[in-house]
Amino acid sequence: MTRLQGLFSSSQGKEKTQAQTTAERDSASEPKTPPRHLAIIMDGNGRWATKRHLPRMAGHKAGVDALKRVVECARDEHIKMLSVYVFSTENWRRPKLEVDGLMRLLWETLRLELAKLHKDGVRLRHLGRLYDLSPEIQRAILDSVELTKNNTVIDVNVCFNYGGRAELVDAMRQIIADGHDPEAVSEELISSYLYTRDLPDPDMVIRTAGEMRVSNFLLWQSAYSEYYSTQTLWPDFGREELLAALESFYKRQRRFGGLSAS
Ligand code: FPP
Repeated sequence: MTRLQGLFSSSQGKEKTQAQTTAERDSASEPKTPPRHLAIIMDGNGRWATKRHLPRMAGHKAGVDALKRVVECARDEHIKMLSVYVFSTENWRRPKLEVDGLMRLLWETLRLELAKLHKDGVRLRHLGRLYDLSPEIQRAILDSVELTKNNTVIDVNVCFNYGGRAELVDAMRQIIADGHDPEAVSEELISSYLYTRDLPDPDMVIRTAGEMRVSNFLLWQSAYSEYYSTQTLWPDFGREELLAALESFYKRQRRFGGLSAS
């Protein structure tokens, strides 16, 4: 039994025991390399709630359950890194009730799930501006990152108060503060000043709820990521939808600006 099995109680667990992983199914034919790093814009929580005449926060809470399912499935599919867009630098523009609710939801989720996540080998990272967050949230994030820093089963990067432009601004400020010669500024140097320094770029970005926008997510890092958009609202996203996205990824021919091998 793999270490994460049973981590999250979810109705999807049944499907998992019946179904082989995509990699297992395909090992007989041609081997498929899963994305090393998968990034997700988890959109549609509000619409999911509205359709059910529920408050928007009910959608976000259901979004946490979807995230648990997806972490488990990603692990099964041998994906080593997930980045999830939870709260953007633009989300402060939402009504205070919702902003406060999202802050509290992160705090509660970390409090309730951290021990299990740690036991099951999840390494948590935070990507975003920590200093704008309340001391309580900062503490919860820093403690979670510290506790799980040596785990190796799967990395989950929580993008919270994250913005791609803000990240680039922070990087440029630090590059200038460090006194780099303009001639020495290179793509490698800029990458080394991002929140994602030392992390691989995402191979695929999934966006739920049908929008076709980048929304300031991993702007620099997703330069060559494969995009995948689905109409499914985030709270309805699960194993089946992730496998469909992976199937699409396996069919893509990635050329990184060059020409295909054939
Ligand atoms: C976008 O949907 C979603 C968010 C801004 C919040 C994302 C949060 C989660 C998925 C829950 C996970 C949370 C934690 C704390 C781990 P939207 O509200 O913009 O939906 P809409 O476009 O339908 O209104």
